[in-house]
This record gives sequence, structure tokens and C-alpha cells, in this order.
Amino acid sequence: MIVPIELQNTSNICYDITIDALPKLTFDTSVVIVTNPTVAGFHLDTLLSKISATKLNIVSIPDGEGYKTLETVENILNECFEHKLDRKSLLIAFGGGVIGDMTGFTASLYQRGIDFIQIPTTLLSQVDASVGGKTGVNNKYGKNLIGAFYQPKAVYIDPIFLKTLPPREFAAGVAEVVKMAVMFDKDFFNYLENVDLSNEQTIKEMIRKSVELKAWVVNQDEKEAGIRAVLNYGHTFGHVVENETNYTTYLHGEAVAIGMVMANALAVELNMFTQNEADAVKKLLERASLSTNYVISNVDDFYEHFFLDKKSAKGSIKFILPQSMGHHKIVSGIDEKIVKKVLNNFGETQCV
Ligand SMILES: NC(=O)c1ccc[n+]([C@@H]2O[C@H](COP(=O)([O-])OP(=O)(O)OC[C@H]3O[C@@H](n4cnc5c(N)ncnc54)[C@H](O)[C@@H]3O)[C@@H](O)[C@H]2O)c1
Ligand SMILES: [Zn+2]
Repeated sequence: MIVPIELQNTSNICYDITIDALPKLTFDTSVVIVTNPTVAGFHLDTLLSKISATKLNIVSIPDGEGYKTLETVENILNECFEHKLDRKSLLIAFGGGVIGDMTGFTASLYQRGIDFIQIPTTLLSQVDASVGGKTGVNNKYGKNLIGAFYQPKAVYIDPIFLKTLPPREFAAGVAEVVKMAVMFDKDFFNYLENVDLSNEQTIKEMIRKSVELKAWVVNQDEKEAGIRAVLNYGHTFGHVVENETNYTTYLHGEAVAIGMVMANALAVELNMFTQNEADAVKKLLERASLSTNYVISNVDDFYEHFFLDKKSAKGSIKFILPQSMGHHKIVSGIDEKIVKKVLNNFGETQCV
């Protein structure tokens, strides 16, 4: 199936996201595939059997979020120069969100911008990161603080690549799927509640629906001036969890799962979400093998950490909260005492 991206409101760019078996792809230009040893080990032969190009080179970068840096981008750029890419050449991102974000950013920079294509291989990148044209890298000041909105020419999502994905990485992707359902689509949430999440058909449906919803959001608001911020549901809390645990204990999606549980607790406190709805989300996340328990050791510190988030100016944290299942609301100006009361329920000395 094909989901169109149509950015008429902003850049007037249109391209397709194809969710299906990877088709044969032929390019009459030089192509560089950017990947890492893990993905290449499992799937590069399959990819190579599907691609023909005037010239084809592979650039393999080390695996891991720790390598999502300007230095790695510069290394990829150098490889592009070594392979004499010109302005008509093409980069292909073949991997998870780390590869996708960095390849897109490199494409935006090489000779002021060349084409790139996304072939995402993790669930998280198939349902989220490969859609919408956010590219970039991390630096010592935080995650994704350097980058560009730069749309690919096409995205090819083939669920077959997920067969080799470790279970934790799969679950982390499910967290982003649940995010879409809770924010935008009650029927989708009810569907997820009632299916085997590891079934092949279900996985296809999760991808299809999440991509459709994200495309619908991005088509309205490419540069996150409004509704696109709703995709950060669970992330305001989740980023603090990731930060407090030095980005080592939890995968991003795992932290987002915890973050959604916290956001839901705040929404319940504000009478925007029922306890039953919050319990249903928690149950679904746990069924996906996502841990939802996190002990906040110091509520004041946790609260202060909100302001490290690039999206939160002091005194005006915007919380993205569910307002009944399938609906969302961005709420700012919530009294610090209310937020801390909710956080306290996740604290070590919580009152039961
Ligand atoms: N651009 C966006 O809109 C957007 C949205 C969400 C997340 N992101 C970014 O995406 C990144 C996270 O992406 P991710 O979760 O895909 O992480 P990742 O790219 O690090 O991939 C996770 C792990 O899975 C491995 N892997 C990839 N495909 C595999 C496969 N088919 N089989 C086995 N192993 C495989 C990778 O090598 C890696 O070790 C973060 O940097 C985040 O900032 C971007
Ligand atoms: Zn996320």
C-alpha cells in the first residue's frame, strides 16, 4: 500500500511511502547505501539483490546512538566525496532511526542537498522516524539539537526486515504505535487491545495505521508549529527518564512507555482521562513487554529536568495529554504542585 506525503502547506514536496515487499529499484545515478554492520550482516544481500545503479557503494558506520554525531556525518560526507558523488547522486538510508536521521542530514548537506531514500529496518523507524523528514544528530547539549527538515524522495517499508529485530527493539517500536493510537484514534487503540501484537498481519496493520496517522499530522504541520508537537506525547516525561538514567538503562521507546503512563496520570488528575483509560494504556504497554514502573528518586530533581528539554521554556512546560481515548490536548501553565503531586505517586515514598 502507498501512503502519500503531500506538504502543500510548506515546501510543496510530495512523495510516497510504500509499505510492501521491497520492489526492484533501478537508478541511473551513483548511489551510496549508508548502513551499519548489524543491519548489513542480516540484510545487505537482500537489499543488493533489489538495487541496480550506475555506480553503487556502501558506507558502513558504527552501530549505536553514541555515533549519531557530526563527526560521523562528516565521515559519511568524506566517503561521498571519495566516491565522487555529484548533485544527481542518491543516498539510501538502510537501518534504524539512527541511520535514517544521519543519512538524511548528510543528504541535506552534501553539495547543498542531494536526494535520499529511506529503507527503515526497525519497527520504530518504520512507524515513526522514517516518516516526516526530521533529520539530525546529537551533541553534548542534547539529542537531535542539530539538524534539518529534509524530506526523502521515497520511503520503502518492508516488514520482512523486522524478523531479525531483537524483542526489546520491537517493543520499543510498539510504544510509538500506542502513542499514535492514544493521541489520534480510539478504534486503533481498541484494535491493538484485542490482537496478538507479534502476529505478522498485526504488524503490517500497526505500520500502516501509524504511518497514515503520522503522514496526516506531518501533511498539516511539517515544521512542528502546531499539531506535530502532539507526537511528543510521553516524551516530555520520557526524556527525563532517559536523561536520569544516562541513556543506558532504557531504549527510547521504553522510556516513552513510562512517560506515557506518567502523562496519563497527570491527565487523570486533571479529569481529562479516566482511570480506566489510563489502566487500559498501561495494560496494553505491559502486554507488549514494556515496563511501566519507574521509581522517581527525587521529585524536585525530576521536575527541574523538564527544563533541560529543548521544548520547555522555564515556567511554560507544555504537556501533551490525552483528552479521552483518541484525542489530545496541549496544556501549559499547569500548577507545579499538581505536577509534583502526580510525580510523587511514582516516588520511592509514595502514599498508597
Ligand atoms: N526523525 C524522526 O522523526 C525520528 C522519530 C523518532 C525517533 N528518531 C530517532 O531514531 C533513533 C532511534 O531509532 P531506532 O529505535 O530505530 O534505533 P537504532 O537505529 O539505533 O536501531 C536499534 C538497533 O537495532 C539494530 N537494527 C536495525 N535494524 C535491524 C534489524 N532489521 N534486525 C536486527 N537489528 C536491527 C540497529 O543496528 C541498532 O543496534 C533515535 O536516534 C531517535 O532520535 C527520529
Ligand atoms: Zn519517540
